Amino acid sequence: MTERLIVFDTTLRDGEQSPGATMTEDEKIEVARQLVKLGVDVIEAGFPAASPGDLAAVARIAREVKGVVVCGLARANDADIDAAWEALRFAESPRIHTFIATSPIHMEYKLRKTPDEVVELAYAAVARARRYVSDVEFSAEDATRSDPDFLCRIFATAIQAGATTINIPDTVGYATPEEFAQLVRFIIEHTPGIERVVVSAHCHNDLGLATANTLAAVQAGARQVEVTINGIGERAGNTALEEVVMALHTRRDYYGGILPRIVTEQLVPTSKLVQRITGIHVQPNKAIVGANAFAHEAGIHQDGMLKHRATYEIMTPQSVGWEASRLVLGKHSGRAGFTARLRELGYGDLPRERVEELYQRFIALCDRKKTVTDADLIAIVEEQLSQVPERYQLLGWRAHSGSDGRAEAWVKLKVDGQEREASATGNGQIDALFKAIDRLVGHQCELEAFHIEAVTPGEDAQGEVSVRLRCGEAVYNGRGVATDIIEAGIKAYLMALNRSALVTTEVRR
Ligand code: KIV
Ligand code: ZN
Repeated sequence: MTERLIVFDTTLRDGEQSPGATMTEDEKIEVARQLVKLGVDVIEAGFPAASPGDLAAVARIAREVKGVVVCGLARANDADIDAAWEALRFAESPRIHTFIATSPIHMEYKLRKTPDEVVELAYAAVARARRYVSDVEFSAEDATRSDPDFLCRIFATAIQAGATTINIPDTVGYATPEEFAQLVRFIIEHTPGIERVVVSAHCHNDLGLATANTLAAVQAGARQVEVTINGIGERAGNTALEEVVMALHTRRDYYGGILPRIVTEQLVPTSKLVQRITGIHVQPNKAIVGANAFAHEAGIHQDGMLKHRATYEIMTPQSVGWEASRLVLGKHSGRAGFTARLRELGYGDLPRERVEELYQRFIALCDRKKTVTDADLIAIVEEQLSQVPERYQLLGWRAHSGSDGRAEAWVKLKVDGQEREASATGNGQIDALFKAIDRLVGHQCELEAFHIEAVTPGEDAQGEVSVRLRCGEAVYNGRGVATDIIEAGIKAYLMALNRSALVTTEVRR
């Protein structure tokens, strides 16, 4: 038996309160539409009394976004509640969410009100909101630092005034899971009328406990969770929608089948949209939606994954909207992961010795690059496949140049098994290096083409150089790949020379 859990998304209200997360009206509409696709039950679209812009954005969402409850936040005063109604009046299913602080510190220093006055304000606010809408949520701000008996009193009053959802916020992210569950249970057991309303949990992540606290509240009887995409929100953020949803799905054995109506395959697209719009990017190791959430680098893990996915994955990447798991090739990857990726790239039939040699080159590249991409791998394989016996082997090089364009270069090669070195000057480093090589090799070919391109993105990209040498009637192409573009040029030049040396041991004009 599954029991429904209401997902109240506050990305556009509490989430937008993240420093730097301000969204334009159009962007809010785009996010709201995606939230409907994701299947959330309630969208808290904003705080209409906060500014004319907020009111306009909530009003537009109320008018244009259907198939979901649209909610507006209001402090417990007439002006805020009236503004919320003004914004929500054209919503298909409007909800007014009113709140007042209930902790001693907030009542005394922020509100400068007695507990009795706060209870009166709560009653009046809910009653006024009920004159406009039948769906009214009441929150006791800073509930986790409030007196539990006082919470029961104010919640009972709000229910009497017509509240249909009672929200228990851990406003400052202070609670621990056991404590929060205890508080929720206490409120459910001691608040008259609570059986007629939905109990909700709203957690902040100041101690990194928002998801744990929200799940603990669900276990204690809460049937609405207030969450944001990627966990964005005030300070350390709010509970992340994707984490709660996937915990309930993945551990339904533990949570007894209390499930939200979320289309889990939309989690990653929604996360990416919110990242793009707010400019707040999740860390790579963020649960569910981080770039590494389904990436495996360690050799042992890759080997396990190739044998049976469930060895290292508790949910499928597709179930949350990723295309596939990623076996990341890095220096911890073993031969199994490396060979599997070669096969995926279409190099399945390489002889074992070639694969071993490629693997050694790959490991050497890993010491220079953080991540080895498919393009890097293709470059390594292609270079090996196009290799010819090396009459000229590069042992070392150095080059300097200055603003006058003059360059000096030194090159050390193995030529027919003998180490030889030469220096030269030239018009730029490549020119000087190629002249030094020419001295050692003694050829008289002409460089017809020299082409540079970065084959992989990023600072540690590999560069590729291709050259064309004309030696009399014959033309020889060479290609070189290296993280240093100058070295890639030398490799390309030597490949072309080695090819020419295959045909004739001494190239003459
Ligand atoms: O964190 C909080 O207390 C809030 C309330 C307005 C629900 O965001
Ligand atoms: Zn909040």
